[in-house]
Amino acid sequence: MAKKVLIIGSSNMDLSMNVFKVPEAGQTVIDDGGVAYTPGGKGGNSAIAFAKLGAEAVFCTKLGADIHGQKLYNFYKESHINTSYIKVDHDNPTGFAVVIKEDSGENRIIVYPGANNYISNDNIVDAFNCEPDAVYLGFEIPFSQVLTAAKVAAARGIPIFIDAAPASKDYPLENLPEVEVFSPNETETLEYTGITPAGSESCLRAAYSLYSKVKCKYIVIKLGARGAFIYDGKHFDVISPYKPPKVVDTTAAGDTFTAALTIDYLSNGGDIKQAARYGAAAAAIAVSRPGASSSVPSEGEVIEFMRSQHVGF
Ligand code: RIB
Repeated sequence: MAKKVLIIGSSNMDLSMNVFKVPEAGQTVIDDGGVAYTPGGKGGNSAIAFAKLGAEAVFCTKLGADIHGQKLYNFYKESHINTSYIKVDHDNPTGFAVVIKEDSGENRIIVYPGANNYISNDNIVDAFNCEPDAVYLGFEIPFSQVLTAAKVAAARGIPIFIDAAPASKDYPLENLPEVEVFSPNETETLEYTGITPAGSESCLRAAYSLYSKVKCKYIVIKLGARGAFIYDGKHFDVISPYKPPKVVDTTAAGDTFTAALTIDYLSNGGDIKQAARYGAAAAAIAVSRPGASSSVPSEGEVIEFMRSQHVGF
């Protein structure tokens, strides 16, 4: 039976801009690399990933009463996400992000949180009425609300998975109850620990530093094109990356990785290495497609891709 995952997080409308090179301060460039509005937000991208990868995805988020909110809501509905716990804020706009993608592959994202900042503790507690098998959290909503969600989940014995993005060294990570997986990317790891996870030795130092702050079973550091690093407090493993069919847009690759890891982990009895390989395969497909939510592959596509790479389950 499909696992029911409650995703509590952000929704943004992304303005995705492709440019050859980001202008310097004071410079104007004319560039027809392409521009589009696409559904995004780390919470929304993850919810889409869960739905496409075979979970029963229940999304708790807050949208503005505007055209972006309406479009995102329709998109979630069409994507078979349970929208019963999506709330509408009549005073604040839907979250908005400007995603600037350089031809070099470099991404820069600016988020205007809008309604995401106003998801309330009541909204969160209410969403637990869906009786999820797991809770999935990200940090694009206020940290106090993340703590509320994590504490409710812990009190009910519901496993917690955290995609630790975006990062701030001010977050009191030590206040989180025990989580199953805590997963930042390279930049976020640097922000949390002051250590750049370059080689195995620095990855281990960073993972150890995170492990001493966050009560968790596994730290999983996403290393982009270098794969992932797993640490359980005693041992570490390095997960090799998959070669993407082509690199088009890395936006939401990290969201896809952690959501895919989570759904596989829940379905395979907690084999973290297998789950990370599944996450890496899903992310490799995501980077070969444009946009955020729109780049997330389906379960069938990930399985087919892994087969084509001669990787068994
Ligand atoms: O992780 C990618 C996402 O970050 C984008 O969709 C953007 O909305 C920001 O939340």
